[in-house]
Amino acid sequence: MRAAAGATTTADAWNFVEGGSGGEHTMRENGLAFDRVRLLPRVAVDVAGRTARTRLLGLPVPVPLAVAPMAYQTWLHPDGEVATAAAAAAAGVPFVVSMMASRTVEDIAATGAATVMQLYWLRDRGLFRELIGRAEAAGCAALMLTVDVPLLGRRLRDMRGGLVRPATVVAANLGGAGGGAGAGRAGRSEVALHTKVLFDPSLSWADVAWVRSVTRLPLVLKGILDPDDAALAVDAGADAVVVSNHGGRQLDGAVATATALPAVVDAIAGRCEVLVDSGIRGGVDVLKALALGAAGVLVGRPLLWGLAAGGAPGVTRVFDLISEELHEAMALAGCPDVDSARRLRTSVAGGGC
Ligand code: FNR
Repeated sequence: MRAAAGATTTADAWNFVEGGSGGEHTMRENGLAFDRVRLLPRVAVDVAGRTARTRLLGLPVPVPLAVAPMAYQTWLHPDGEVATAAAAAAAGVPFVVSMMASRTVEDIAATGAATVMQLYWLRDRGLFRELIGRAEAAGCAALMLTVDVPLLGRRLRDMRGGLVRPATVVAANLGGAGGGAGAGRAGRSEVALHTKVLFDPSLSWADVAWVRSVTRLPLVLKGILDPDDAALAVDAGADAVVVSNHGGRQLDGAVATATALPAVVDAIAGRCEVLVDSGIRGGVDVLKALALGAAGVLVGRPLLWGLAAGGAPGVTRVFDLISEELHEAMALAGCPDVDSARRLRTSVAGGGC
């Protein structure tokens, strides 16, 4: 699917999807860390009636997946987020709407997908509160505050100049703030838009508690890696955390999420839900995430590959592949359900059990 997407996508859009920050070490390490996880399969367990059904973010799901928030999807396909969300709705998978989505949250919710609204901490608190109100009115099931973007990571592919976001691809939910100003040349001006105009680097735990206080929706914090931050997230009232390094697009050199996940799960100790993203490429990775203690995963780039390669049917194909692989892997590992998958033992290649 990645190859098919690469063959149909402009160089600019491809760099936007594929790029990480700095030397892209963390981006590469995300995949390697999942590859190094080894599962200890159980045998002689009846898996004839196996199911991957569970609940994520309070929502019933047929597989423990949700769509990661990803910006500007009309850059990859004219229908953008509406196509991805329609495929998510058909798969029964929740769709996280990026604050920088190129379709409105109302249009995305109209697909019938269960939605979660992702927010960055904005300098413009009025706009921030307005977005919360729109998310509530559109029927979003939760808010997801991304906490690993005090400023935009150093994305060298974007900064090296050749990258131009088409004028038609705008942040549809931000009106003037991210619409007109964001159109046109990206690269340095894109970074300036995000860091000087939109994002506020002053986010503190007191602010997180304030966000918690101004909405009745469940609050998810995305971008947690340190177990102490996981505990602070619980203290601030988070209902869920996402162990994430933003797909290697923020701090280059940050730990891979498969490496960070177990300590976060320990620190949370069941007090809120733990999700993980960054490097999930197939059903076996999902099983590994469950075995490491996650309740479920956010799928990122693979869905954009499906979108670029084939619109909504392309996204559906990616969901189907991941789901089939997960069901097969669960059978082969002796897991009739998600709870048993979360009890699988793991080791790290080269290390002990
Ligand atoms: C992202 N990600 C992201 N995260 C977020 O909180 N808000 C956003 O608007 C975006 N936008 C975005 C665009 C693109 C093109 C990518 C690839 C990623 C990060 C995303 O939610 C998720 O954390 C990563 O994509 C996970 O890494 P992998 O599995 O896609 O490599």
